Amino acid sequence: MVIFGTRPEAIKLFPVINALKQQSKMQCEVLVSAQHREMLDQVLSITGIIPDHDLDIMQPGQSLDALTARLLEGIGQVLDRSKPNRVIVQGDTATAMVGALTAYYRQIPVSHVEAGLRSYDIYQPWPEEVNRKIIGAIADQHFAPTEVSAGALTAEAVPADRVYVTGNTVIDALHWITDRIAHRPELAGNLTTLESRFAGKKIIGITTHRRENFGDGMESIASAIKTIAARDDVACIFPVHLNPNVRVVMDKMLGDEPNVAMIEPLDYPHFARLLSISHIMLTDSGGVQEEAPALGKPVLVMRDTTERPEGVTAGTAKLIGTDKNRIVSEIFTLLDDDTAYSAMARAHNPFGDGKASQRIAEIIWNASRQKT
Ligand code: UD1
Ligand code: UDP
Repeated sequence: MVIFGTRPEAIKLFPVINALKQQSKMQCEVLVSAQHREMLDQVLSITGIIPDHDLDIMQPGQSLDALTARLLEGIGQVLDRSKPNRVIVQGDTATAMVGALTAYYRQIPVSHVEAGLRSYDIYQPWPEEVNRKIIGAIADQHFAPTEVSAGALTAEAVPADRVYVTGNTVIDALHWITDRIAHRPELAGNLTTLESRFAGKKIIGITTHRRENFGDGMESIASAIKTIAARDDVACIFPVHLNPNVRVVMDKMLGDEPNVAMIEPLDYPHFARLLSISHIMLTDSGGVQEEAPALGKPVLVMRDTTERPEGVTAGTAKLIGTDKNRIVSEIFTLLDDDTAYSAMARAHNPFGDGKASQRIAEIIWNASRQKT
């Protein structure tokens, strides 16, 4: 049983589900918590994944306690009914953590996709750093995207024969969607109006949603965007997360900026299009830190630490925090200094080769055969 609930988990798990379903001797059930609703449904719809179970638990402005309580009860009940032989979770969300915990309470083995990411700071990202450590303590199969993440697990005394370096399934997802858009460009055609409106300007693609940035962090980010967008040679395209803690601040501070297009969350084909037309990505997202380097886009990360150091080490990502002046000066440097820009704008793939899901499905299948 594959368990997930948010947009990024759906993006990173649909290739795994497809690969598992190709193993005809395994039956794969999909349980969505719907920790996200609209943003999850966008991914389900484009990828054709139909959940077997949908808990529909999202509530506006949900607290971590209430969310976790609803997840514990809801996922536990499905596990009791379906009795899967194995549970598969991805990453570090509340749904992933509770999926692993409820499986553990029933002594069902757990596979962890995107295992071993560590920032070594339990408050950044919060609460994801602790969520993934809890999952790591429970899982018996750890699918690490890179040697760095595998090394983090073995350093925590996870037995090496339970850690598999597979690549990150987000690269599989990106390949899949890029291929689909190549065959059917209309799938990503709705940005055309904005592309015409901003023709000749350098596009800055923006996303932000981290809980630890709510409040002062969000205000500082909005204020930086306002200063950046005052330049005539720049336009910002900003699909705004549906979280009210993000939207209220952005609407208040950026609502009237002519060079800022604040739009609804994009479905995955349109977001892939935004990545491809952007000159720079400005983000606090995990997934965008992995996708942008694969497409050769410099990515400025509005965080102080990252559990994805591979892009920073390679020089295509830079940690810049949320201070307004720092964000503005880093963006201006990339806009005005061609050498600085070229140094960051290099396509490379530290996060995988697009075949991670296949590897994961084979490992799960082989392990299940050894047991019987
Ligand atoms: C969650 C994950 C975070 C992940 C992020 C991806 C946890 C603890 N956090 O963030 O790791 O990076 O998702 O985006 O699991 N909302 C909607 N519709 C949607 C989605 C969200 O209206 O489709 C609004 C709701 O008001 C909801 C709020 O956004 O209550 C926050 O959603 P939530 O999943 O709790 O967000 P985070 O915990 O910030
Ligand atoms: N994404 C998307 N539409 C958007 C913004 C992001 O499809 O409007 C995708 C993006 O390509 C990436 C994922 O969502 O794969 C990242 O999700 P998010 O930033 O919400 O979560 P995180 O990766 O930080 O956990």
